[in-house]
Amino acid sequence: QRLVILVSGRGSNLGAIARACRDEAWPATIAAVISNRPDAAGLALARELGLPAVALDHRAHPDRAAFDTALADAIDAAGADWVVLAGFMRILGEPFVQRYAGRMLNIHPSLLPAFPGLHTHRRALDAGCTLAGATVHFVTPTLDHGPIVAQVAVPVRPGDDEASLAARVLVAEHRLYPQALRWCLEGRVRLRDGGIVAEPGLE
Ligand code: GRF
Repeated sequence: QRLVILVSGRGSNLGAIARACRDEAWPATIAAVISNRPDAAGLALARELGLPAVALDHRAHPDRAAFDTALADAIDAAGADWVVLAGFMRILGEPFVQRYAGRMLNIHPSLLPAFPGLHTHRRALDAGCTLAGATVHFVTPTLDHGPIVAQVAVPVRPGDDEASLAARVLVAEHRLYPQALRWCLEGRVRLRDGGIVAEPGLE
């Protein structure tokens, strides 16, 4: 199966998935990495890893629909079976999301449905949470609200600030995303009728 990974920034989750792909038993290859930010570190990482890297600057498109269409064209040109959002910071329109329904995943650095959107770690700290974490979910039109594939909980430690908590969660993300993605690639977790169907033992 062919993955297209979308990034806007650092690309550390891309790196984690690329490492997983090196395993011979891994059921997929990365067909392309696409970024809406030509200067994204994640795009440079893709090039270093020898992966096809595509810069698709959203600012070069007149509106969201035009960008989404260009993005879908690039994804389809790469022959994608799965679209993997890894720190992709553009909101995607409903037609785009429907086009890849059931085969597009995202990772979010909170225990959804808590703290969708931006500044998750600051909000978790402000709320006095003792547990933070990350969620891999299928992408649906409502931002950060799709059916949950897998989550990992991470403790909030006394004295944590946004940076220390984010760093601890990120380490957990790098384990979670390849694992959750693999379950989807193997059909052990699927989206059906808007909900999750999981193999016994994984629910
Ligand atoms: C991660 O925290 C991810 O959960 C969020 O954006 C961040 C991306 O980090 N969606 P990276 O670009 O993968 O390093």
